Amino acid sequence: MKRLAILGSTGSIGQSTLAVVAEHPDEFVVTGLAAGQNVKVLAEQIRQFRPAMVSVQNEAVAAQLRELAPREDAPKILWGPAGAREVAVASGADLVVSAMVGAVGLEPTLAAIDAGLPVALANKETLVAAGSLVMAAAREKGVAIIPVDSEHSAIFQALHGQRREDVRRLWLTASGGPFRAWDLERLGQVTAAQALKHPNWSMGPKITIDSATMMNKALEVIEASVLFGLSVDKVGVYIHPQSIVHSLVEFVDGSVLAQLGVPDMRLPIAYALSYPRRLPLNSPPLDLCQVGRLTFEIPDTERFPGLALGYAAARAGGTMPAVLNAANEMAVAAFLKGRLAFMDIPKTVAATMDSHRHQPLESLEQVLAVNRWARDFAHGLINGGGLGARRG
Ligand SMILES: NC(=O)c1ccc[n+]([C@@H]2O[C@H](COP(=O)([O-])OP(=O)(O)OC[C@H]3O[C@@H](n4cnc5c(N)ncnc54)[C@H](OP(=O)(O)O)[C@@H]3O)[C@@H](O)[C@H]2O)c1
Repeated sequence: MKRLAILGSTGSIGQSTLAVVAEHPDEFVVTGLAAGQNVKVLAEQIRQFRPAMVSVQNEAVAAQLRELAPREDAPKILWGPAGAREVAVASGADLVVSAMVGAVGLEPTLAAIDAGLPVALANKETLVAAGSLVMAAAREKGVAIIPVDSEHSAIFQALHGQRREDVRRLWLTASGGPFRAWDLERLGQVTAAQALKHPNWSMGPKITIDSATMMNKALEVIEASVLFGLSVDKVGVYIHPQSIVHSLVEFVDGSVLAQLGVPDMRLPIAYALSYPRRLPLNSPPLDLCQVGRLTFEIPDTERFPGLALGYAAARAGGTMPAVLNAANEMAVAAFLKGRLAFMDIPKTVAATMDSHRHQPLESLEQVLAVNRWARDFAHGLINGGGLGARRG
């Protein structure tokens, strides 16, 4: 039995992870759950999976959870960043699933690694904001970081048994999102309701908006570069609207290995949980004849400038990717509230990056301080009309 702590259990990845656990009760036991504010779903998860320890976003939410949680075999209820860290390191897990959304996932993920626990990583913002710190900690402790992101899982699988020096290039695939074929004028009018309708994947709101702007691919390019130890210039992107080929590795002899599957996050999640084994899953088989055509094209960074910002942040290095990530989190939140136009999301990120003098990455405290600065700066731009001035 593998013992799991799941950070972000009430979210899309968290719930899919628990669906895999429920399908394999003889393989996994849940020791800890951490979530934000969704006490209704969390109470139900406590009833079903009986963790010893849970954590929520703050003390008030913890009080609400205490009302709803089962009285019998009640878990220890914690809150805040310290609570999430404790679930990660002290619930008795031997694998931590990192699936909170945003840079808030960084601290508990790093705590798990520092405690010598392997991590199944969905929370890409952790590697974007503090990639070299996280990878150095993982190397020092000798712990594995197993990707959950479908693209990185595909690369991880294609690299299995291969020599890193034989890799020429990584190719991430991107669906292109709901606005793949829209011109700039129409993109200026996009609403949150339209952007929340992803053509192929059902995901949480932040990553769905990131997919629509292609900022998600920018984050993933940085994530791949950090995770697989390759320069960002060796990570390319193909638009592949069918979302069947999840990513590819090109080798020095010209061979290309890809991983294919139906777009269902339970596949990469199950692989990360059971690696290096594979578990049977009751998901529909991939029928390539029914899919019919697999197409690929080069992304348009004029209509989707977020992708180019990702490369620029990675090339600058140091604290710049953390700034890109923090500004994007603020811009997406403002867009979802109807307070920012769709095309102002990358503008907010670009303007925040422009105002940042990046430094080499040194410590978690530094990353958290840079994250706070970028969030405040982006907040000022969004609310103070700073973008309007730049627009001309
Ligand atoms: N969804 C996908 O298919 C997918 C695919 C690849 C990678 N990812 C990555 O996986 C991560 C999670 O994505 P998602 O789509 O599952 O997001 P989501 O559905 O929005 O879920 C986010 C989770 O984080 C929790 N959370 C948010 N703020 C928190 C805070 N301050 N403290 C504690 N918990 C907090 C939420 O709790 P409450 O809901 O209880 O507030 C929820 O459990 C992201 O980094 C995303 O990029 C997702």
